[in-house]
Amino acid sequence: MQKHDDFNFVIFGATGDLTKRKLIPALYNLYKNKSLGENFIVTCIARKDFDNENYLEELKKFYKKNFKNLDEKIWNNLASHIYYFRSEFNDESRLYVLSNFLSNMEKKHGLKENRIYYFATMPENYQNLINFIRQYKLNNQKEGWKRIVIEKPFGSSLNTAKNLNKILKKAFDEKQIFRIDHYLGKETIENILVFRFTNTIFEPVWNRNYIDHIQITVAEDIDIQNRGSYYDKAGAVRDMMQNHLLQILNMVTMDCPGVFDAENMRREKTRLLEKIKVEDFAFGQYEGYRTEEKVNQNSNTETFAALKLFINNSRWKGVPFYIRTGKKLKKQMALVYIKFRDLRCIANQRLNMSSNELIIQIQPEHHIYIHFNIKKPGLTMEVGRVNMDFCYECIYGNTAESYEKLIVDMMEGNLTQFTSWEETKNAWKIVDPVIKKLQAVNNLEVYKSGSWGPATAEILINKYKRSWYYY
Ligand code: BG6
Repeated sequence: MQKHDDFNFVIFGATGDLTKRKLIPALYNLYKNKSLGENFIVTCIARKDFDNENYLEELKKFYKKNFKNLDEKIWNNLASHIYYFRSEFNDESRLYVLSNFLSNMEKKHGLKENRIYYFATMPENYQNLINFIRQYKLNNQKEGWKRIVIEKPFGSSLNTAKNLNKILKKAFDEKQIFRIDHYLGKETIENILVFRFTNTIFEPVWNRNYIDHIQITVAEDIDIQNRGSYYDKAGAVRDMMQNHLLQILNMVTMDCPGVFDAENMRREKTRLLEKIKVEDFAFGQYEGYRTEEKVNQNSNTETFAALKLFINNSRWKGVPFYIRTGKKLKKQMALVYIKFRDLRCIANQRLNMSSNELIIQIQPEHHIYIHFNIKKPGLTMEVGRVNMDFCYECIYGNTAESYEKLIVDMMEGNLTQFTSWEETKNAWKIVDPVIKKLQAVNNLEVYKSGSWGPATAEILINKYKRSWYYY
């Protein structure tokens, strides 16, 4: 049975990459597996001079070329729910026409005025759009609920985030605001909590007494993919660290929320972020970055960042965390690596033992590995290293894309996997001083594309007698 109400999915920024590559494909898959039902429309708003027909044709052409299994019948049915509306995001008179367009289309489809306003546009448009929504009372919930989805990064510093939040709060309350971080919709990341808090064999050792250190790596082999105008202002710290990496860190380290719901999760995540202290860092820029389109030729924007940090609470005091992310690295690899402490039980150096490792592989494949010691079969006492491997795909096949899961949450009004203002604020408090340090670096270390980043990132971890984990 359909758990959600009828709705209008209103996308601002409908010709951008996010809409084309993530949102519409997610809606297509949800429509295909009947999770959307039939009582919905998608209103796609952008500047480009398309009419409805050209817009849909463009999309279809793109999907036919890029997606192997496009079912044309299903696409055509979905397309009959999609409407294109051309507007600048600062053209008040045109936006006014939009407000009537939204209700007319809803009436035509017999829908209530339940709306998800999805900001898939450049952050500089947010303020105008929120003000417009407020001015024309498009946030009014008399004829149906209103929810707003804001992509990350939410602001570009603590101050700008505060301003954005202030404007947002004039039009919406916290329960209507979905600050999206698509990493929270990834199966392997959602699973971390279940893995930690439902398995007796892991939770009791998940702390400073048994863990030597933890690493989080989100490495990408791609470049900035024609997003120069956004990326050159953002950089790896704002684009990835402030949100995706800190969210993964939170999943790995937060205390048990008791209940997996928005209120409890948000409380624990906020508490954890308050305790983070960054101690050391390394930054880099890939060779050739300055010649990318729409990038300043003297740009000092970091395309790689690594941090060493601590969490000052009773669970983690003294355990170092190393987190890193970068573009144009050797390969795509996202993982959490947990190195356990040595067990001083059998005192025999010659046995060549090594402490346990647990690896949660997030991308490109989904696995959990545990490395442990065994006695090698034979007449002598020799220790060998073996690997236990849980492979998601082998058991469950392909899992849902994160945007699909998060869109369902938006439809159902479930905020559990979305970021609260308190979390966002605390994340900026961690990252703002890092950005300050970064601004003081005059010439970023340049790293070769296809490498593992700048040499300083290796030094960052090696000087503490540890090394990055690779597979
Ligand atoms: C986005 C960043 O949020 O996440 C991109 O803006 C990055 O720069 C992307 O490439 C990575 O997402 P995923 O799901 O491909 O790992």
